[in-house]
Amino acid sequence: ARTAVVIPAAGRGVRLGPGAPKALRALNGTPMLIHAVRAMAASRAVSLVVVVAPPDGAGEVKSLLDAHALPERTDFLVVPGGDSRQESVRLGLDALPADFGIVLVHDAARPLVPVDTVDAVIEAVREGAPAVVPALPLADTVKEVEPATAPGEPEPVVATPVRARLRAVQTPQGFDRSTLIRAHESVTEDVTDDASMVEQLGLTVMVVPGHEEAFKVTRPLDLVLAEAVLARRRL
Ligand code: C5P
Repeated sequence: ARTAVVIPAAGRGVRLGPGAPKALRALNGTPMLIHAVRAMAASRAVSLVVVVAPPDGAGEVKSLLDAHALPERTDFLVVPGGDSRQESVRLGLDALPADFGIVLVHDAARPLVPVDTVDAVIEAVREGAPAVVPALPLADTVKEVEPATAPGEPEPVVATPVRARLRAVQTPQGFDRSTLIRAHESVTEDVTDDASMVEQLGLTVMVVPGHEEAFKVTRPLDLVLAEAVLARRRL
């Protein structure tokens, strides 16, 4: 089956501080989104990248992609996004031509994911998993709390899951296309990752090893780390 990638890039990136939409912020002079598109196009299995742009920024994103060369084997499409990440992903799925049987969903905010991680996700979907996520073990112990009603108030702990059984999930997440579409049609509540919608269908999502460099650029310090990773790669 042919493989396409949907890249939701319509978020404002408020936690990163004021400025352009997050996906358009530069890392070493090149917009984060371009790094993310290149990271996907680096996989020989990927033949189409659908970028979901800020609703008022589709023209700008199209020009950006035209200005940055991709491998000849990779086509791209730009569609306007929605109010939530989930809505943006759905709009990207709607734009997919019929002949793509495997879909990856990749955050523009994870611009540095290595191609081996992308290929491992695709391979696991090809081998029959309906949904595949790359993930890493946690360094921190995680506690579930009763969230405070006012910021800064102490919060009571409700539970401490066994750390060795937890994984921090990254993207790209890979899917059998019809399964992901079915998940989007049947799950209406807000989720923070696409695979959890497939879990809600009662299907088993598989985890493959993620990579440290697939971290999400969320806060200002993450920009510093991302530029350091890029600088190291040029050595
Ligand atoms: O906000 P968060 O870091 O979870 O965003 C993850 C990804 O979802 C980002 O690439 C962001 O641009 C995208 N997104 C989107 N449409 C929205 C909100 C977020 O495409 N309405």
